[in-house]
Amino acid sequence: MFNSDNLSVNSQNHLIIGKHDTVELAKEFGTPLYVLDEDLMRKNCREFKKAIDTYYSGNGLVLFASKALCTMYTGKLVADEGLGADVVSGGELYTLYKAGFPMDKVFFHGNNKTADEIELALNCGVGHFVVDNKTELDLINAMAKSKCITQKILFRIKPGIDAHTHDFIKTGQIDSKFGVALENGEAFEIHKYASTLSNIQIDGVHCHIGSQIFDVEPFCEAAKVMINFVADLYESLGIKANIVNLGGGFGIKYASVDDPLTPAEYIRKVAETVTEIAKERNVDLPFLVFEPGRSIVASAGITLYTVGSVKEIENIRTYVSVDGGMTDNPRYILYGSKYSVVIANNANADTVAPITIAGKCCESGDLIQENILMPEIKVGDTLAVLATGAYNYSMASNYNRIPRPPIVAVNGDKKKVIVKRESYEDIIKNDIL
Ligand code: LLP
Repeated sequence: MFNSDNLSVNSQNHLIIGKHDTVELAKEFGTPLYVLDEDLMRKNCREFKKAIDTYYSGNGLVLFASKALCTMYTGKLVADEGLGADVVSGGELYTLYKAGFPMDKVFFHGNNKTADEIELALNCGVGHFVVDNKTELDLINAMAKSKCITQKILFRIKPGIDAHTHDFIKTGQIDSKFGVALENGEAFEIHKYASTLSNIQIDGVHCHIGSQIFDVEPFCEAAKVMINFVADLYESLGIKANIVNLGGGFGIKYASVDDPLTPAEYIRKVAETVTEIAKERNVDLPFLVFEPGRSIVASAGITLYTVGSVKEIENIRTYVSVDGGMTDNPRYILYGSKYSVVIANNANADTVAPITIAGKCCESGDLIQENILMPEIKVGDTLAVLATGAYNYSMASNYNRIPRPPIVAVNGDKKKVIVKRESYEDIIKNDIL
C-alpha cells in the first residue's frame, strides 16, 4: 500500500513509521515535523555496500551524496555504516568534519569552489577533490604547494549522456556547467596539463549523469564511456586513473507509478559493464565509486503537517492548507514532484475526491500536491507526506521568516531529535539593528 515497507497502519488507523505512531510523534514534537527512519537509512546503506561486495568483489566504495540530507547525525550514521561521502560546499564539508567523519573518505565536488572552501578542505585533509575546471586546478595546486602536500584529485567529466530521455543523446550534455567535455578534447587536455603540476596526483575520473533515473542503461553507457576514456588516457599519456566514480542518480518510488530497480540490480549491471569493457581495453579493473543520495535517504523520511483550513471553491477545487509548505518542501514548486500523501490519523480511509494541499507561504505556487485523490480531510488532521527524506530538509528555507522544522530520528523503540526546531530567535540571530 505504501512506498516502503517500514510504513504500516495500526488498529487505531494511525500511520506507523518503524515502531512509532506518527500521530503521537506529531503530538510530542509538534508539526511540521520531519521524521527519519534511521533503521531504513542504515538498511539502504548496507544494501549498496553489499552490492559492491557481491558484484564487484568489494573493490569500490559507496559515498553518500550528503546534499540529499546533510546533518551531523546522519553524517555519523553514514560513517558508522562504512560509507564515504560526497560534499559540494564548505558547509557540507564542515558539517561532516565536525561530526568526526573520516575525511579521507570524502570527495569534494563543485563547479566553483572558492579559495576559502579549498583552504578548509585542504586543512581538513579531504581525500579527493573532484576538479571541475582549470582555474580550480591551478588554485588547488598552488595552495597544496604552499602547504607542502600533494592533493589527490579526480576530474569531473561530461560523458555526453542525457539520461533524462530514453534514447539518450551522446552529445547533448556538453552544455552543462559541470566538468570538462570529452568530445572537444577538453578532458584530455586538462589531464595532460595536470600531469605536469607538482602538487597534484591524478587518481581517477568522475561523472554524474542525472538524478531520479529508473533505467540502468544510461549508467552502463556512462561506464563504457568512462572506461574507454581511462584506457585512452593510459595509452596516450601514460596516466593511470584508478578510480572511476560514476556518481549517483538511482530512482526511488515517490508515487505508485514509480518502479525503481534495487541497488543490487543497478550495481550488478554496471559492474558487469565495467568488467567487460576493462577486459576489452586491457586495463586494470578500476576502484569503482558510486554516490547515491536520494536512494539512501528519500524513502526513510516523511513529513508530518497539521491541517489548518479546508477551503472548498465550488466547481473549482478544494484547498487543504497545512502548517508548512515550500519552505520545508520546495520540490513541488520547483519540479512539480509527485508525492504520496496519507492522513496519519485515518490512514486506511477510502479516497473520496481530489484536493490540493497548500502551504502557508505568501505565494500562490506554494503547494505540496495538486488535485490528488484523498479521503475526506478535516481541520486538525495530521497529514503525512511520504518519501521526503532527500532534498527536503536540505533545500528548506526561511522564506516568510518561517522557522525550519526539526528532524526526529526513530530507530527501533527509540526516538531522538537530531536537528532542533528553529525558533524566532534563530531567525533573527544574524540581524543587526
Ligand atoms: N553526485 C553528484 C555529483 C550529484 O550532483 C548528485 C546530485 C548526486 C551524486 C546524488 O544524486 P541522487 O542519488 O541523490 O539522485 N534537488 C534535486 C536533486 C538534485 C541532485 C543534484 N545532484 C531534487 O530535489 O530532486
